[in-house]
Amino acid sequence: MTVGEELQQSETIANALDAIVREIDEKRAQLTGVRAPNPGLKETLDDHLTRVTSSRGRGLYAPYIGSGVGNGALVELIDGSVKYDMACGIGPHFFGHSDPDLVATAIRAAAGDVTMQGYFQQNTSAITFTETLVRCASRNSKLRHAFLCNSGAMANDNALKVVYQKNHPADRVIAFADCFMGRSVAMCQIGDNAAYRDGVPTTIGVEYVPFFNEVSARSASAGDISGQTRHIDMCVRRLEEHINRYPGKYAAFCFELIQGEGGYNTAPREFFTALMDVCKANSIAVWTDEIQTFGRTLEMFAFDALNLGEYVDMCTIGKMSQVCAAIFTEEYNPRGGLLSGTFLGSSVGLAVGQRMIERLEAGDYYGQSGRIAQHHRAFVEQVKGLVVKHPEWFPESEKVTAPYGGMGGMMRFTPFGGKKDKIMALTKALFDEGMVAIACGHDPYHVRILAPLGVMEESHWPRIFEVMERGLAKVAG
Ligand SMILES: Cc1ncc(COP(=O)(O)O)c(C=O)c1O
Repeated sequence: MTVGEELQQSETIANALDAIVREIDEKRAQLTGVRAPNPGLKETLDDHLTRVTSSRGRGLYAPYIGSGVGNGALVELIDGSVKYDMACGIGPHFFGHSDPDLVATAIRAAAGDVTMQGYFQQNTSAITFTETLVRCASRNSKLRHAFLCNSGAMANDNALKVVYQKNHPADRVIAFADCFMGRSVAMCQIGDNAAYRDGVPTTIGVEYVPFFNEVSARSASAGDISGQTRHIDMCVRRLEEHINRYPGKYAAFCFELIQGEGGYNTAPREFFTALMDVCKANSIAVWTDEIQTFGRTLEMFAFDALNLGEYVDMCTIGKMSQVCAAIFTEEYNPRGGLLSGTFLGSSVGLAVGQRMIERLEAGDYYGQSGRIAQHHRAFVEQVKGLVVKHPEWFPESEKVTAPYGGMGGMMRFTPFGGKKDKIMALTKALFDEGMVAIACGHDPYHVRILAPLGVMEESHWPRIFEVMERGLAKVAG
């Protein structure tokens, strides 16, 4: 046995961990429901908000500053308030706050010799984590290797380099309108939001194809041809136009299979296969950006949930995985030198990411009758209940086909016809009433719900929707 193994199996550490977890359990048990801010702590919050603005040069999007403890879906903030966390750090905290098993896993990892692991020097946890990702990703696809890094944007940057190298001299990419891929120099150019690349030189050739749009699909019916087929044909024609304009110049099509920031938009499998068939015929890499979808849909990978594994050449993941990765096929394995870095991930991130995936695999989360799908149905039931109770909050709108949408643990809620000012006001009102949530979409806008389903029971939804109803009432006036 190495001394490292002795340390890992140390009884002293195990006993100390038990004591720490007992203490955390005792503290977190005090958080049993939504709590208003403590007026005596207002100054503390204001002081921190001023410090953020001064040190960072810009204030926070929402006055969320955690106290360092939570209880499942509930989180305590430094103003003493307790809120339902329906944003979960925009994805990573699927098992909520102060989860005893994950805290213990993190502390064990922190007791190791180094905080960060890298490409030159790494410990076994980096290897195990990489193998786990490859095992999960390769079940129904040709993905065979994973390259780790610290952010979704960097995973995407790595993926971009790999598809460029393999498909050289092709140097352009295709993406969906309204996509988001991160904020590096390269990714802000591919992402379809002008504000996010304001002042950044444009060095990447990128063309856009419309994402599947239910409203267009419904209205495009003509004769015997369904609106969906006509809509998909239109999108395929757009892709072909780009390819004809720049033959042989596209290295990849970046598929965000469920658009995150773009509005939790989903599409049927036929939409993706029609586009992916064209990509395959033109040697364009099929790259699925699963940074937001990873773990949250009806399978661990959204490409599996949509049965698209056979098409995928490159897949990027992040958020819930804790450590991010570009996962690719043997064919796309790049030559030495292209990918590396001082850091591949933190020891704590690797251990917790590994443990979370183990729990996802063991926990009956996936499939149509899995826990994630059941939670989605419970969420939809709550929305339907609100529509019956307050139809005035859900006016008819040309842009909104239903007040709920998304897939699995990516849930979207669309009151007030998806109007921007109302949805923004609603996320603020929800925060004040006891729920952390964030908007998505670009007209229509939606409340996006990234709930910590790993620690939630279906019985939580009525309580969460009590807060939702209070927030809606405030905004409706
Ligand atoms: C689909 C998608 N791609 C890429 C990113 C960028 O990830 P990160 O913020 O970790 O750089 C995000 C983050 O929201 C995302 O949702």
